[in-house]
Amino acid sequence: MRKLLELRDLTAGYGGGAVLRGVDLKVETGAIACIVGPNGAGKSTVFRAVSGLLEIMGGSIVVDGDRIDHLSSADITRAGVAQVPQSNGLFPTLTVKENVLMGGYLIRRQRSLVKERYEQVASLYPVVRERARDKAGNLSGGQRRMVEFARALMLDPKLVLLDEPSVGLDPIVLAQVRNAILTMNQTGKTVVLVEQNVRFGFGVATEGIVMESGRVLMQAPAKELLENPEMGQLFFGGVIETKGAADEDELADVC
Ligand SMILES: Nc1ncnc2c1ncn2[C@@H]1O[C@H](COP(=O)(O)OP(=O)(O)OP(=O)(O)O)[C@@H](O)[C@H]1O
Ligand SMILES: [Mg+2]
Repeated sequence: MRKLLELRDLTAGYGGGAVLRGVDLKVETGAIACIVGPNGAGKSTVFRAVSGLLEIMGGSIVVDGDRIDHLSSADITRAGVAQVPQSNGLFPTLTVKENVLMGGYLIRRQRSLVKERYEQVASLYPVVRERARDKAGNLSGGQRRMVEFARALMLDPKLVLLDEPSVGLDPIVLAQVRNAILTMNQTGKTVVLVEQNVRFGFGVATEGIVMESGRVLMQAPAKELLENPEMGQLFFGGVIETKGAADEDELADVC
C-alpha cells in the first residue's frame, strides 16, 4: 500500500534538547490514523514538525513520496498538509464564512476557485452555510469543530492533522465529530488525529499509534490495539472497552 505520510527516525525539539527521539511511523493513503499517549509524549510536537512549525534535528518526513522536512510551512501547506491545532483556532469576532475563507488564503487571488471550494466545504458541513453570517464565537464547541474542519479543507489537502478534536465535547456531539471526520476521509483525505480519548480516537481510526516519551511504542490496526490488554494496563489505567467503537449510539454510551 502507498504511504501518504512517513516519519523516519525523526528527531526534533524546541532548543532545550530533543522531544522527539527517533520517531518512526507510517500512514497509508486513505487511512485514518490516531496517535495516543500521555501528556507530554510529543504528539503535538509530531504535528508541529510535519507542518514545518518546528525545525527538525534529524531523520526525515515524507508526504506522498516527497521529503517535506526542509520546506517552509507555507510550502508544506502547498504540498497538501493542513493542520487543525489543539486549541480553538477560530477568530471569535469574525463570521463563520470569514473564518472558513481564511483557510483559502493561498488561493485568494483565484476567486472562482475560492468560491467553488467554499461551496464544497459548506456542502460537507452544513453548519457553515446555516451559520455563515454568525460570529464564530457564538457557536457551540461541536459547531466550531466543523467550521475548523471546513477551513482546513479549503486548500483541498491530501493530509489533515487534527489535534484532539474530541476535547471538551459531550457524547452526542462527539458522535457528530466522529461523523465529520469520517466524511472528511470519504472525500479522499488521509487523516491523522491525536487523541487523549482513546476510545473515541481508536473508534474512528483504522490505524493506532501509541507514543511515550518522544517515541512510538506501538503501531497496529486501531481495533487490535483497543483489544490489547497490555496497552490498557500500561498507559490508560485499566482495560479499554472496545464497545462503542462500532456505532454512534454505543459510542455515546461509553465516551
Ligand atoms: N513551545 C515549546 N517550547 C518548549 N518545550 C515545549 C514546547 N511545546 C511543548 N514542549 C515540550 O515538549 C514535550 C512534548 O509536548 P507536546 O505538546 O508535543 O506533548 P503532547 O503529547 O501533545 O501532550 P498533551 O497531551 O498534553 O497535548 C513536553 O515536555 C513539552 O513541555
Ligand atoms: Mg498535545
